[in-house]
Amino acid sequence: MNVLVVGGGGREHALCWKIAQSPLVKQLHCAPGNAGIAELAQLWPVQAEDVAGIVALARKLEAGLVVVGPEAPLCAGLVDALTAAGIKAFGPSQKAAAIEGDKAFARELCRRHRIPGPQFWTFDDLRVALSFLDNREDAPLVVKAAGLAAGKGVVVCGDNDEARVAVRACLEHHRFGEAGRRIVMEECLEGPEVSMIVLTDSRTIVPLEPCQDHKRVFDGDQGPNTGGMGAYSPVPSVRGRILAQIENQILLPTVHAMNREGRPFSGFLYAGLMLTPLGPRVLEFNCRLGDPETQPLLMRMKSDLVPLLLATAEGKLESCEAPAWDPGSAVCVMATSAGYPGEYGKGVPIRGLESVERSAQLQVFHSGTVRRATETVTSGGRVLATCALGKDAREARERAYAAMAKIEFAGMHYRKDIASR
Ligand code: AMP
Ligand code: GLY
Repeated sequence: MNVLVVGGGGREHALCWKIAQSPLVKQLHCAPGNAGIAELAQLWPVQAEDVAGIVALARKLEAGLVVVGPEAPLCAGLVDALTAAGIKAFGPSQKAAAIEGDKAFARELCRRHRIPGPQFWTFDDLRVALSFLDNREDAPLVVKAAGLAAGKGVVVCGDNDEARVAVRACLEHHRFGEAGRRIVMEECLEGPEVSMIVLTDSRTIVPLEPCQDHKRVFDGDQGPNTGGMGAYSPVPSVRGRILAQIENQILLPTVHAMNREGRPFSGFLYAGLMLTPLGPRVLEFNCRLGDPETQPLLMRMKSDLVPLLLATAEGKLESCEAPAWDPGSAVCVMATSAGYPGEYGKGVPIRGLESVERSAQLQVFHSGTVRRATETVTSGGRVLATCALGKDAREARERAYAAMAKIEFAGMHYRKDIASR
């Protein structure tokens, strides 16, 4: 079977790495891909959001399965378009992807179906939002653009003044364009965070292992939020009763709720959770695998991923065995361009990649890289990650950092404290 992976980040590199190992795959293609993926798959210069272009490419390649990685094409209806063209596609429909694409919808879904989350309020009018703040006691609040903002639309505010600035950024200065025309304000929750991702065809759910990402740009969780500076799996505190609570109070009810609202969800459903003293609470849903969470998760997954993806796309997930996992730990450390998550340059040559010896225990997954003549150069804010497997978190972390020490590019930044708590 020919497989086409859509996207070009670290998540798609890890997906291609895993999919390429499957005996079911004849040819592996990726659009648009990146310099790392080029070593595993044939690349095609079609953007992930170009729905008509991807459908045409999938047809031309006679793809037996198209795996859509990022949220933007999912929210734009790529899976619907592929399905309508008779092409088997993995990922949620546009209606189901709204669980990520519209944070106001996701919050209201939780409220309607009693899925535990923070108190929240939605606004699309600047004056109404500001007067809400004027009449509210000073307290931490989270302000979110309701639409897709590439992981940058969430501001955790210490007090009402900070919240006013965040509200104005969306509703007055239109910093996130259409995505910020509606905002969600939320009670600020506290506690450790965990990401739980399940594979579901809307009837059966197959939970992946718990994992955790590091969202702030600097060590000690300082600085602004990013798309993710590193991740690890498993999360030792998340097992037993807590895991059962997460499944029974959040994951299963959410899949049911989507069915009941006529938006059956098929694909990877990602729940970002806060483990509060009162139990797990939903921070956000994503309609896809997390990046960088995918990297350590797939490194630990021992089973073939392709039968699971196929069964999900065909609505036959109940017939699959749950995947087997390496009992050890995997740690992923992300290197970013100077300035990220703000403005950053591109086209910076990357050195030392060839000196990292890849194995089942160690991989370099590219996020924002391109091949230029004889060099690999940066092309994004998050550039690449080293991801290592070890018998425990310490061994995995040491391996990932030893590999990162061999790589360099001007302005390179990475956190030194991933998985060290
Ligand atoms: P999101 O993209 O919605 O997950 O938000 C990004 C990050 O903001 C999360 O990983 C949390 O660290 C933080 N966050 C989001 N919502 C809340 C909340 N209600 N309370 C506290 N922190 C939050
Ligand atoms: N790492 C968080 C995300 O993929 O949204």
